[in-house]
Amino acid sequence: MSKLICDVDSLIHMHVNYYIINKNKNLKMAKIEKDFLERKNPTKRDFKAKPFMPRKPIPDLGHDKLDGERFYTQDFMQKEWDSIWTKTWQLACREADLKYEGSFITHEIGKESFLIVKGNDGKVRAFYNVCQHRGNKLCQIEEGELDIFSCPFHGWKWNNDGSLNSVFAPELYKQFENGVPAEELGLPEVKLDSWGGWLWLNMDDKSIPLKEWLGEYGEHLESYNFEKWELIDYQTFEWNGNWKHAVDAFNESYHFTALHPDMIEFGEGHDIPIELSGPHSRMINFNDTVSEVVEDQNSFTPLRETMMGDRIKGGMEKIDEDYSGSAKDLHLHYIEKRRSEEDDIEYYKDMNDEQLIHQYHYFFFPSAVFTNKPEAANVFRYRPHATDPNKCYYDFFILLNNPEGKEFPPRPEHKIYRGNGPELYEEAFRGTFPPVFCNVLAQDGSNMETMQWGNKSDSFKGGILCEQEIRLRHFHQTIDKFIEMTKK
Ligand code: FES
Ligand SMILES: [Fe+2]
Repeated sequence: MSKLICDVDSLIHMHVNYYIINKNKNLKMAKIEKDFLERKNPTKRDFKAKPFMPRKPIPDLGHDKLDGERFYTQDFMQKEWDSIWTKTWQLACREADLKYEGSFITHEIGKESFLIVKGNDGKVRAFYNVCQHRGNKLCQIEEGELDIFSCPFHGWKWNNDGSLNSVFAPELYKQFENGVPAEELGLPEVKLDSWGGWLWLNMDDKSIPLKEWLGEYGEHLESYNFEKWELIDYQTFEWNGNWKHAVDAFNESYHFTALHPDMIEFGEGHDIPIELSGPHSRMINFNDTVSEVVEDQNSFTPLRETMMGDRIKGGMEKIDEDYSGSAKDLHLHYIEKRRSEEDDIEYYKDMNDEQLIHQYHYFFFPSAVFTNKPEAANVFRYRPHATDPNKCYYDFFILLNNPEGKEFPPRPEHKIYRGNGPELYEEAFRGTFPPVFCNVLAQDGSNMETMQWGNKSDSFKGGILCEQEIRLRHFHQTIDKFIEMTKK
């Protein structure tokens, strides 16, 4: 086993040490956690995903400042490419999107493009999407079905299993006098594996298996049976900031109060449980409650009426008429309601009480987030720009739980949106996403630019991180560890 693989393995298991180091520290508990833990009639049985609460100790990762250079220098961008993007598993696409022999998608990560294709032998493979003649981009469309991929420049061709089909006019090549070396000229393959109905690729052929990489968090999420979910929308936003600013912004909720004041009116993100596991991390945001930092904990304001209605049936429903409690405690009512419905809605049976209503946010290093309720999920993916550390891509996937395999209308076309403002997100999601969330995305998107700008200032002395930002510290320390490991 190579040194790098050993070290990755130790990263995956380092959470064990965190807990030993911290076992004697007294833990604080937010009001919402206390309310949740002391709720009436908690469901007492074993679930595949163990409850998150009560929160576990947060490891002591030190208090060093977070330097600004890592967000904008070409040097750091190159180190990340060499140590992270080419060494770790990357979420690529839904397995169900490669239905037929010849179905393909192309997927870009940084400077590379990949061709993921189901061969006529029924096997799905991933290749570098590069013509082996003079290095042109071989397939220049995003998806389709093809038996043969033909390079637009001089017409060299490859079969959909990656093998060379033909060289145009081989008699013009002295090198091929004794025949075309087809084996040498096959498309270079990259590792591909599947989990949760998603295909993941890895440019490092010595990497550990995907399932091992996803670790215990992968096991937690298996309780959702993502294989049976339907991807109903996928859109991309080009943001004017480094990809790590996007990871950082979504990996903490401490910013809700200032940047997204609406969000704390119908959810709690102010002080929430966070956990680290090897290179990955998670947190839990509370839905259908009111943040402890908001004065009015009780009333159903118009915003709360809109955002806290029971949306299980797909529409914007009203708050249940039989509910007479406070806005803050509505989540407890929903948990009891969901539990009472589990004979009709089978998948509730596999969900612990937290999963029934609250919003886990799982981050798989370096760039995939799964955040969902039992009925619907958002998956985020952050990708670096090919050449510019000041830009990144934020991919947004919306999925619905579809245990009965219901047919859905064709998905809207996938586009890359540039710019910002709530209207951009309203256009991207064609009004299916609540305006409040479009506004939140616009706030996050414009904040990317101002962070990118401010981190370059000579006056900036490095980021100061609080305990609610521990996932950021852990994320950047993990990046640094990967860079160190690659040097060895
Ligand atoms: S570069 Fe592709 S055929 Fe020439
Ligand atoms: Fe945000």
